[in-house]
Amino acid sequence: MNCCVTGLQWGDEGKGKVVDILAEQCDVVVRFAGGANAGHTVIVNNQKFALHLMPSGAVREDTACVIGNGVVFDPEIFLKELEGLEQKGFNFASRLFISENAHVVLSYHKLEDSLRESALGRNKIGTTNRGIGPCYADKIGRSFAVRMADFRRPEQLKSKLKKITDYKNKVFEAVYGAEPIDPEEVYQSCQTYSQKLGKYICNTTKYLHEAIDAGKKVLFEGAQGALLDLDHGTFPFVTSSNASALGMSTGSGIPAGKVDRFLGVVKSYTTRVGSGPFPTEQDNQTGQLIRDKGNEYGTTTGRPRRCGWFDGVAARYAAAIGGINELAVMHLDTLAGMDELKICPSYMLEGEKTNFFPVDAGDLERAECVYETLPGWNEDLSEVKEYEKLPENAKKYIEAIERVTGVRVSMIGTGPRRDQIIYKK
Ligand code: GDP
Ligand code: IMO
Ligand code: MG
Repeated sequence: MNCCVTGLQWGDEGKGKVVDILAEQCDVVVRFAGGANAGHTVIVNNQKFALHLMPSGAVREDTACVIGNGVVFDPEIFLKELEGLEQKGFNFASRLFISENAHVVLSYHKLEDSLRESALGRNKIGTTNRGIGPCYADKIGRSFAVRMADFRRPEQLKSKLKKITDYKNKVFEAVYGAEPIDPEEVYQSCQTYSQKLGKYICNTTKYLHEAIDAGKKVLFEGAQGALLDLDHGTFPFVTSSNASALGMSTGSGIPAGKVDRFLGVVKSYTTRVGSGPFPTEQDNQTGQLIRDKGNEYGTTTGRPRRCGWFDGVAARYAAAIGGINELAVMHLDTLAGMDELKICPSYMLEGEKTNFFPVDAGDLERAECVYETLPGWNEDLSEVKEYEKLPENAKKYIEAIERVTGVRVSMIGTGPRRDQIIYKK
């Protein structure tokens, strides 16, 4: 069975942990969208790995790791990640495959990201400053794009980089008064990347089709979450890729029909990093309590995450667009000790009740949450291993999530460790 794991909220749902667990049963793990804006935490034997570009299958010796064409690939960050894992004893010689069609994030993309965000001031998106938007913009624009395959043709790459930096320097200088970028410096960095990564660059679409035809099990790992999807999220406060399950096919070359399980990951509450509407946000003591108990600080940027109640309207929408047929609910342990818990199954918008998520940022700002209140529990869940052994109110809470989203829950997270997971029939 091939499986696709995606976040159904605004990212950081615990995808890394879920992928790491499922990878045990799979042969190949593929990242298909986003870039080093992602931060996926995997904990193995008390050792913590924060993965940005490397698929979360990396920490299992026999798992092949594929970086698909839909990823914007930052070789500088990736090399640090790769070398860090190699120092810890992991070997990638015959199990790492990077798409020749993946677009390359270079220093000028990161510069452009931060220049633009600074210029926007209070209206900024709150990006991770990893150059994601500028790199995807170059991909769509085509004329100034660099792909991994370009590393194979150094002379052509050199002249391309000259053309690109000539253009970017004019724009950056005129718009932001920025210092010029040196094309030679960018080219030299590409030479280093090419020497170190050249052997991993290949046609990953061919690799994946052959693997599936040979009966191998493939696990697709999403980054970010459906509400950050460029087309279907809370635009403009989104990332620049199709972060929902809809991005799986374009970002890997594998059609949805080849995948049976579409597993959506949610937290038992909601978090968001960066700007944008967040109807169930609790910018108060409740939010602070969740932040402290759940350790809600960004894996990539360290920023405190905004916290709030479980948004059923948003999760149901995200499940619907992603064809989600199973849910993993993470961080159930974090909610222990609260007298009452709230879930939001609908909004009031301009005097009318709606169950359908309005993605328009203005509508979402105006949406008022209609809450359902559920009783909490005090028991610590961190060592509970069976669904039946959960406190009654915790089970009722999970059942409420199933009812509101219309999707069956199959996994429940009770802590950050690999073994802190409950399987539910
Ligand atoms: P991702 O981006 O979706 O992979 O999620 P992150 O790794 O950015 O953030 C999830 C955080 O929650 C990480 O620190 C995980 O170690 C942690 N985590 C994952 N599942 C659970 C859980 O069930 N309970 C608790 N307490 N922490 C969890
Ligand atoms: P994982 O994979 C949470 C958010 C940023 C910002 C917006 C745009 O760990 O879940 P970008 O740098 O992509 O242009 O930023 O998207 N964002 C994330 N939030 N988790 C992530 O990844 C994110 N990747 C981007 O905070 O609001
Ligand atoms: Mg994360």
